[in-house]
Amino acid sequence: MSSVNELTAAVSEILIDEETLQSRIGELGAEISEDYRGRDLLLVGVLKGAVFFMADLMRRIDIPCEVDFMAISSYGAGIDSSGVVRILKDLDMSIEGRNVLVVEDIIDSGLTLSYLLRNLEAREPASLEICALLTKPSRREIDIHCRYTGFEIPNKFVIGYGLDFAERYRNLPFVGVIRDELAAQAEELS
Ligand code: IMP
Ligand code: MG
Repeated sequence: MSSVNELTAAVSEILIDEETLQSRIGELGAEISEDYRGRDLLLVGVLKGAVFFMADLMRRIDIPCEVDFMAISSYGAGIDSSGVVRILKDLDMSIEGRNVLVVEDIIDSGLTLSYLLRNLEAREPASLEICALLTKPSRREIDIHCRYTGFEIPNKFVIGYGLDFAERYRNLPFVGVIRDELAAQAEELS
């Protein structure tokens, strides 16, 4: 079995293919460029899942901008986020007085992002908005205003294009639904 097949064997269905991802990311980049034109823009990526989206999105933004990353961890390795978040790596830069756009891979319950926003808000940025590639509205436990959303998806566990299951499958070039057998394992881990 080739390594590509080993990866794709974990997927039961391709939810968003490469072309659809890139075309939507192009639209988001254009929208963000218009909204922030003439302002100083700092993109803040949440490691590790948002790295792939960040790299593509940033190249579709045609105004000057900077990038920084944060790593956070919710306790528990599985699907459900506990909302208890630890900062594993903080930003290198100060965000005081800056226009900050947080770039996330997916908003599920919203608990992780809600914690992160409170933390960043306390540092007094000039503005603070969110751009999420994916959102699962049916799973939301806390109300979060997301200014830019790539795709609304159903309540299914997805992998690929940065999204992992137990740290694997981030390198799939598309967003796919994980196979039921693996999803069952993911439930056990959470
Ligand atoms: P939240 O705090 O429930 O919104 O969880 C957000 C985090 O959970 C994301 O940043 C992902 O790391 C992870 N997550 C939520 N849903 C999925 C999924 O379908 N696939 C992979 N990771 C997910
Ligand atoms: Mg994860």
